Amino acid sequence: MGIRIFKGNIVNPKSKDILEEKKNCTIVVMDGVIDSIYDGDEEVPKQFDREETVNFGDGIIIPAFSDLHIHASQYVERGVGMDSLLFDWLNNFTFPQEAGFRDITYAKRIYSQVIRDFLLHGTFQTNLFTTIHYDACDLFFRMLEESGLYAYCSKINMDMNSPEYYVEDTDQSIYDTERFICEHTDGYSGRVKPILIPRFAPTCSEKLLKGLGNLAEKYRLGLHTHLVESKAEAAWAKELYPQYASDGDIYEQTGLMSGDGPKIFAHVIFPTEVELDLLRKYDAVSVHCPDSTTNITAGIMPASTMMDDGLRIALGTDVGGGHFMGLYREASTAIQLSKLKEFYEEDHRRLVFANTFYMATAEGGSVFGNIGKIEPGYKFNAIVIDGMQDKGYELSPRECVERFCYSGDDRNITARVIDGNVINVDEVMSRVIQIN
Ligand code: GUN
Ligand code: FE
Repeated sequence: MGIRIFKGNIVNPKSKDILEEKKNCTIVVMDGVIDSIYDGDEEVPKQFDREETVNFGDGIIIPAFSDLHIHASQYVERGVGMDSLLFDWLNNFTFPQEAGFRDITYAKRIYSQVIRDFLLHGTFQTNLFTTIHYDACDLFFRMLEESGLYAYCSKINMDMNSPEYYVEDTDQSIYDTERFICEHTDGYSGRVKPILIPRFAPTCSEKLLKGLGNLAEKYRLGLHTHLVESKAEAAWAKELYPQYASDGDIYEQTGLMSGDGPKIFAHVIFPTEVELDLLRKYDAVSVHCPDSTTNITAGIMPASTMMDDGLRIALGTDVGGGHFMGLYREASTAIQLSKLKEFYEEDHRRLVFANTFYMATAEGGSVFGNIGKIEPGYKFNAIVIDGMQDKGYELSPRECVERFCYSGDDRNITARVIDGNVINVDEVMSRVIQIN
């Protein structure tokens, strides 16, 4: 692919507390990776004059977003059934709908729309929940490969406390998972990878969790699941698993945290000392999903406290618990929720925009490699924001990005770059829908 030059303003999540802006920059990209960046007043070496240049003008280049917890299989549930709480919502809406993925035509129709929305909203890295169905997950994996997106994608597991039309036999579940891993580890681009996804402890038997734990060790895989999502969920897990200290202990003792891949836990709203110690020990990522935890009335993650303790916190839409595919909106909603938490709880610090933008980009991106910053050594996976200015009152690039997270949408994303290639969503989708 060689050298490519990109010009524009940059807003970069330098650290969880520092969001830097640089105007009129020149970015040198080699084979999809940022090689060097020259600020507006720095001289760009003459040798780069000859290279292919893409000039984004007044546009603001930011890292593409990483959605670290989303149920691709619940795409059609966004914004409906929201009057229910978690268990009613699962039983009345989610399980019947997810069961439909046994039909591969249905699966393809839904997953095509999911991929299109990821591309439109600038989410180029994603950690997904799917369904129990091997064929639908296999098709989705291959569609993701074709799309150019970065993803962790496998089948999910559930063998108890589930309706008889949507439940697995324990041995079959372990067998199918091992087969999925073996058939999707080699021979691909390296962008889409398997991970283990037990739905959550209340729908998984101990035998299933131990079987998956063996696979984690054997294939060095990561783990993605829900953890202490609500008081009711944590209490149910404890009731079903009295021999374990807590929700998190179940995953550790069954071996599910023994692999090398990332350990990614959605929600983590009521962590005990056991959970906090495990998160630290395994350098795990906790995923804050502000829309979903509000819709399901699960509670508010103590995100700032955990972050200030050095824990890794990223963001997720948790669609269909969440209702909107743009991960950027979670960056503003997380701030709103933290202000309410600060209002009601004295010793809670509110989050600021630098914190949540870092969660949405750099922290989330880190589980996919050197992704999530506009800095040398990072993959150039980026989007360009435009059209956030009012007439007669000028915002800085940083302010434009803040406004975008609060009130922008995919129409304000004027360019999309994956691995240093400017992509056209319709062209990508025309290839994705050819996959069978
Ligand atoms: N816990 C178990 N399954 C689910 C799910 O589909 N959504 C959410 N938000 N929580 C869960
Ligand atoms: Fe979820």
